Amino acid sequence: MFKDSSRCIVIVGAQWGDEGKGKITDVLAEQATLVARYQGGANAGHTVLVKDEEFILHLIPSGALVPDVKCVLGNGVVVDPWTLLDEIDVLEGRGIGITERLIVSRRAHLVMPYHRMLDGARESLRGEAKIGTTKRGIGPAYRDKVARTGLRVCDLEDLVGCESIVRAACQAANGLLQSWDLADRADPRRIMADLEAIVPRILPLAGDSGATLLKELNDDGRVLLEGAQGSLLDVDHGTYPYVTSSNTTAGAAAAGVGIGPTLIDGVLGVVKAYTTRVGNGPLPTELQGDEADLLRRLGAEFGATTGRPRRPGWYDGAVVRHAAAVNGLTALAVTKLDVLDTFEELKLGTGYTLDGGQLEIFPDRAPDLGRVEPVYETTAGWGSDTTGARSWEDLPGAARTYLERIEANAEVPIRYVSVGSARDQIVRVPIPRVA
Ligand code: IMP
Repeated sequence: MFKDSSRCIVIVGAQWGDEGKGKITDVLAEQATLVARYQGGANAGHTVLVKDEEFILHLIPSGALVPDVKCVLGNGVVVDPWTLLDEIDVLEGRGIGITERLIVSRRAHLVMPYHRMLDGARESLRGEAKIGTTKRGIGPAYRDKVARTGLRVCDLEDLVGCESIVRAACQAANGLLQSWDLADRADPRRIMADLEAIVPRILPLAGDSGATLLKELNDDGRVLLEGAQGSLLDVDHGTYPYVTSSNTTAGAAAAGVGIGPTLIDGVLGVVKAYTTRVGNGPLPTELQGDEADLLRRLGAEFGATTGRPRRPGWYDGAVVRHAAAVNGLTALAVTKLDVLDTFEELKLGTGYTLDGGQLEIFPDRAPDLGRVEPVYETTAGWGSDTTGARSWEDLPGAARTYLERIEANAEVPIRYVSVGSARDQIVRVPIPRVA
């Protein structure tokens, strides 16, 4: 069970990403001493609003916006070092000191320019079947990691060794680009020159993420492990092949920072009060036309990394039940409830049928998920402004009913409800509830 006093918590997205993990992490980071990312890279886009100032973080954990909280990029993250330095400079330029409290795992793999080139090239070759990646080089960087041809942060200590890895990777990338009749080529000399220029800034940040977390927990610290993307984008448990290239789910959190799973006390699943997806792949409760436009506009549903319009849909309980199972969710945080304030009626997906039969298990084949029929419950809207709610009792009755339906369907208790992007627009739900 998730408790406010839990010492090591994983925060995961329980849909297709963009659930508002950044805001929830930022809120919880006020009680934390360390926040660590465990997977993904600069494909993430965590938007956090602090005192009317908007911050969009791609690599650095959302906890960075809380002063004095230590930030760690675990070994499971793929780090684009140039993006990292840009992000540090932007934060420092806006008065947020981060350099002194950031550690990047020495074991983390680096995303290199040839990874970005290959990501873009593969996507353009896929044509209609494209995944809709963020083109941040994530897939090719994880491919090199698993193929044991990657470059890690610790390799920057030995530039001669580094150069031989870069040369071999450029040769392989250029061979592919040539075979695809594309003119772009990766230039190892230029890449090495660019890399050498930043080594003096990257190496001082490098450390052992596992040892850092273990010490923090032994010193009575409180740790948040912040997932990026969502559970349905997990390379194993998501809607393959329309997924990202890492395990986004909670099981990967321990391995992605270098601690044992026995140190984790709870898993908080973040769900939007409706559903969105950016990129391609099946989305059973997807809305079309005016209803989609309305939800997209009310929820400002445009990607934080790529600016692409997100595909909106009704809340999909089958998705969240799947996420609850594969993550072992112990609590839910429901975000963006206020976006639904003006709807007269809401539909809530509770499950699927396929070929006339009720589905008990979430489909593993994307084409099957594309054919399912969602089963909906219709509930009345609440037609009033929830942005000022700060307690469960402040929420209108119909909104509470909607949330209770989500909770009953997921079989996971709701601990937080977010009713706006500001840090204080949060309802902490006590267990047991009074109202
Ligand atoms: P990649 O992670 O860039 O390889 O993209 C793979 C899929 O994951 C695409 O559908 C992307 O749109 C999606 N994706 C990657 N990162 C995020 C994210 O932070 N939020 C939502 N979708 C994401």
